[in-house]
Amino acid sequence: MSENVLVIGSGGREHALCWKLAESPLVKRVVCAPGSVGISSTKDNVESVELDVKDFPALATWCKDNSIDLVVVGPEDPLANGIVDALQAKGIKCFGPTRAGAQIEANKDWAKKFMQKYQIPTARYKSFTDADAAKEFIRSAPYSALVVKASGLAAGKGVVVASSKQEACQAVDEILTEAKYGAAGEVVVVEELLEGEEVSVLAFTDGETVSMMPPAQDHKRIGDGDTGPNTGGMGAYCPCPLITPEQLADVKDQVLQRAVDGLKAEGIKYVGVLYAGLMVTKAGPMTLEFNCRFGDPETQVLMMLLETDLYRIMKACALGTLKEVQVKWNTGMSAVGVVIASKGYPETSTKGCVISGLSQVSKDEDIVVFHSGVARGANDSLVTAGGRVLLVAAKRASLRTAASSATNAAASIDFPGAQYRKDIARRAFSNSE
Ligand code: AMP
Ligand code: GLY
Repeated sequence: MSENVLVIGSGGREHALCWKLAESPLVKRVVCAPGSVGISSTKDNVESVELDVKDFPALATWCKDNSIDLVVVGPEDPLANGIVDALQAKGIKCFGPTRAGAQIEANKDWAKKFMQKYQIPTARYKSFTDADAAKEFIRSAPYSALVVKASGLAAGKGVVVASSKQEACQAVDEILTEAKYGAAGEVVVVEELLEGEEVSVLAFTDGETVSMMPPAQDHKRIGDGDTGPNTGGMGAYCPCPLITPEQLADVKDQVLQRAVDGLKAEGIKYVGVLYAGLMVTKAGPMTLEFNCRFGDPETQVLMMLLETDLYRIMKACALGTLKEVQVKWNTGMSAVGVVIASKGYPETSTKGCVISGLSQVSKDEDIVVFHSGVARGANDSLVTAGGRVLLVAAKRASLRTAASSATNAAASIDFPGAQYRKDIARRAFSNSE
């Protein structure tokens, strides 16, 4: 127990990573920047520190002064801004890709070209910088339905699944002409709509070896039955039975390994998590997008099932020795996570609403509450501080029991305006039973 790890981020994903890292017999201290109240109260060896995570030179100095052995980067923005390049240049080990690697998420136009070049299955597409040319293509496109995307990072927004050609043209105008997403919308990607089940398959990689995690499914819409506007994710479950073992084997070979090998051929040693957002179509799994990081809320449920020491895996990725680690998952159990969001989410959010009922939940060790947007209020209370507030995760012998435990636990937590979905993981039962 001698190593110190710094985790960058403050959400539910980072809470789950810190929770798992704190269990490692190799780890002395887990520091999260900027972290959160929930993260600080995970375990005695976990703390949050207020660092300016955008100031890379100051961060590198802080890492040296605090004998940090590994930096784990949660969100995509710092990765796309070159946090790993800056820290590695100072000799600091990182779990996360360099700026060049992060393009796979931060530049959809680049990612689509890359997928085409290395024959990674994905939707047919065309990219544009000129609105008239894009609209001309849309009007004459042979696809019945289209998706229009801003090429850059737009905080989970910037993707329009258009129900008509007119709506697709309107999206082009918003992104290119009106610059709704600023520089992230200088290039627009127009692609064919794919139909099927969406599944997230994440993998650890050291730039050579790919170690796939069990498949998970996110629930993007705010309302039960997948209704209402898109959100950052209202819940997740794992393992997801909506992709077969044969399809998963194809995803490993034709999507994840092919991507890591392709990146290497482009001169990019990709270290960290490679996340494939897939559509399982009638013709097999197709790649909707890659993310250069762990997903939120998938990570919270994945960490409930990880048996191998997370720090050991991450360190092996950073050192290029992942093939020596056998990553084990609890295959006999399932995990379901239910997000509790604040009033008005996803359009708006509330701050300062006192959260009650948390103490009852924590008694069962297979139910864990991760904090996404929680702050300390008056008299030591916990209050809401964002759109997604908490995620309640339950681990049980079946998806069905995990779903009912997580949903019941979510029902016992309350704050004014709290909203959560009561059907997380239901897509898995209706298709498998
Ligand atoms: P992306 O950021 O590219 O994953 O897009 C966000 C969401 O838009 C995805 O999670 C899908 O629900 C949807 N989406 C993106 N591309 C497509 C596509 N080609 N066909 C159908 N849905 C899509
Ligand atoms: N769960 C979707 C994401 O993290 O992008």
